[in-house]
Amino acid sequence: MPPTTTDSLAREGRLRSIYDVRTADTPRTACQVEGAMPPWLTGTLLRNSVTRFDVGAGRVPHLFDGLAMLHAFTVGDGGVTYTARMLDTADRRSRAAEDRVTLAGFAVDPCRSRFQRFMQLFKPALSDNANVNIARLGDEFLALTELPMPIAFDPETLETLGVSHALPPSPGKVAHTTAHPLPDAATGELVHYMTRFGPRSQYEVHATRADSNRRLAKLGVREPSYMHSFGLTDRHVVLHENALVVNPLDLARARAPFIQNYRWKPELGSRLHLFDRATGEHRGVWETDAAFCFHHVNTFEDGDETVVDMVVFDDPTIIDELYLDHLDDDTRIRPQNRVRRLRLAPGGKVVADETLYGGESFELPRIDDAQAAGRPYRYTFATGFLPDGPGADPSLLRIDLERGEAARWQAAGQIPGEPVFASAPDAREEGDGVVLSVVLDTTSDRSYLLVLDGRTFEEIGRAWAPQAVPLSFHGSFFSTD
Ligand code: CO
Repeated sequence: MPPTTTDSLAREGRLRSIYDVRTADTPRTACQVEGAMPPWLTGTLLRNSVTRFDVGAGRVPHLFDGLAMLHAFTVGDGGVTYTARMLDTADRRSRAAEDRVTLAGFAVDPCRSRFQRFMQLFKPALSDNANVNIARLGDEFLALTELPMPIAFDPETLETLGVSHALPPSPGKVAHTTAHPLPDAATGELVHYMTRFGPRSQYEVHATRADSNRRLAKLGVREPSYMHSFGLTDRHVVLHENALVVNPLDLARARAPFIQNYRWKPELGSRLHLFDRATGEHRGVWETDAAFCFHHVNTFEDGDETVVDMVVFDDPTIIDELYLDHLDDDTRIRPQNRVRRLRLAPGGKVVADETLYGGESFELPRIDDAQAAGRPYRYTFATGFLPDGPGADPSLLRIDLERGEAARWQAAGQIPGEPVFASAPDAREEGDGVVLSVVLDTTSDRSYLLVLDGRTFEEIGRAWAPQAVPLSFHGSFFSTD
């Protein structure tokens, strides 16, 4: 078979397979293993995917509004099992029962009368379709999205347990949260932020344990920014305000789906806020040229400077590109991005603004959390899943931030997902472990768990699922040791 390039994937309509695959709830099934799993690798890779875009005679318009489906690859004793289950949410049930969307999501909004829109101000009908990420808080496993509706599930059976009250604010409140809380291994807390909308909107930073929550910091804001993730060091919480901002009144009036109320105002620049983790003090605002960030890569302290690394785009066109109609159009230009490093010195001074890597389309950056999170580091792993040129198959990247170059795993017709790092038990240096990615083989319409050596970035083994796994945004490996 001749090599399948991305262009031919698009021509054959197979680029659709990043969101349009046949997938179903699957009882736990043994996977066929090629190569070998590392003997020390014991635990479960939990992934949160989007699927089932069809509703009624049409479909939801945006990739971010597919229904949540959980997938688990469990590794142990050299074997691997797979199971999958749709998240059982009110959004899913109402789409099925009424053949239409009845709850407000990211880029979809139910039709409402003026009276219903008025009532929306007091009792918002928000989606509980938690399709972005997975987090663990104490013994509870949570599926997360950016609306404040975490859904608890059983990590073995993937059975939905219901809306969780574990993370503030209370479910259903008019707020926007992050699907990327960050764990503090020292305290066992999950640190996260939210935007509360109202006549006086504010950002809040919280640290939450299974049995308690404390608000670390708050900051009033007139036009809240659309933010997706944040930075954390042992001393600071870093919020990067994208210049994509909203008038809270527009959200309250609910005349357009959530994200369409936001406006790109590059003249505002990117604004970074540092909060002292110990005192909650707002340390100031650092302003620099506007760039759009979904994902922080890592953040660390260097003397009295704070170093903030992010994957950024020139503007938020990427949100537009992820409408299904646009994904179907292979003539569209996929936006390129880069790893931007900002160095923040006391007094609001941005003392350096560098590009550590760029020139292609990549996203879903991860690091070797155990060795690198909050510290100086060298590598980030990412997915080149927005193909951008002739002959460019999607790929996995290990980006060397010191040298500005990347090692690459790539194969014809293979669409890899977010690379998750799993540390070896005796890990001493960054890269001691394996990189796990769920890859869709478009030639057989099945997916497999790919295991790459963390140092050489070469394949160690793969474990075939009995079906195709649709595009998943995020997940994590939960070790059982
Ligand atoms: Co994300």
